[in-house]
Amino acid sequence: MNWTEIDENAKKWTREAGERIRTSFSKELMIHTKSSPDDLVTNIDQETEQFFIERIRKTYPEHQILGEEGFGDELDKLDGTVWIIDPIDGTMNFVHQQRNFAISVAVYEYGVGKIGLIYDVVHDELYHAKVGEGAYLNDTKLPQLEEVAVEKAVIGLNATWITENKRIDPTILAPLVRKVRGTRSYGSAALEMAYVATGRIDAYITLRLSPWDFAAGLILVNELGGKVTTLHGEPLNMLGQNSVFVSKPGLHEVISKDYLYKLKK
Ligand code: IPD
Ligand code: CA
Ligand code: CA
Ligand code: CA
Repeated sequence: MNWTEIDENAKKWTREAGERIRTSFSKELMIHTKSSPDDLVTNIDQETEQFFIERIRKTYPEHQILGEEGFGDELDKLDGTVWIIDPIDGTMNFVHQQRNFAISVAVYEYGVGKIGLIYDVVHDELYHAKVGEGAYLNDTKLPQLEEVAVEKAVIGLNATWITENKRIDPTILAPLVRKVRGTRSYGSAALEMAYVATGRIDAYITLRLSPWDFAAGLILVNELGGKVTTLHGEPLNMLGQNSVFVSKPGLHEVISKDYLYKLKK
């Protein structure tokens, strides 16, 4: 397997897809809803996924593709080489703000992450990692993550999880929100993981993500010595939905021990 070539193609196609998305800003957007009124998809999400699929199928016919918008393959196991793609992560931001969204592309081999790319299209910032070779923001190598005390930490957390909801008792996260220096919510899981990788936030907690939301971010954060698990501290299931806890080293253990221990199985 020529991983250098796959990495170069993944980067080239991601930047090209980003250019197409930027061009789309001046055109009319077609917006539809999926499972609920706030679950949005646009023609650009769909066209971007198809853009990747056409290129991958032509260049690597033996590879499989898992994409959010369903143009790829239906997979029940991660055999061989699998591309995991979220064509636009943060569709609500894309629709409402024309910023704060990203393309997320990851390549896995037999379930093991090899290449992770998160492209902040509007800022032209490509976060990328090839396993064992470090992680980069464009051409700048990112330093390994360092430990931080919980009272000095800024964590990514959506306000939903400290209100009444069906996934977590809000009294579990409320004391953590009071303890940390601050919370942020950016509306793009991929960018929030890239922000942990660059130290802009120290951790990110969310209750339900799909593999395309975290596949690239997981590779990036792991490459820098950070930790990515479910809220129960288990490895993420790459074929299903998961709660996700991404953190700098050290902080992961402290938050798990002092706050998340109350979680029910
Ligand atoms: C969503 C974003 C959002 C997260 C949602 C995801 P999408 O992805 O990552 O931040 O809270 O759970 O579904 O639908 O915009 O690709
Ligand atoms: Ca979506
Ligand atoms: Ca997503
Ligand atoms: Ca998406």
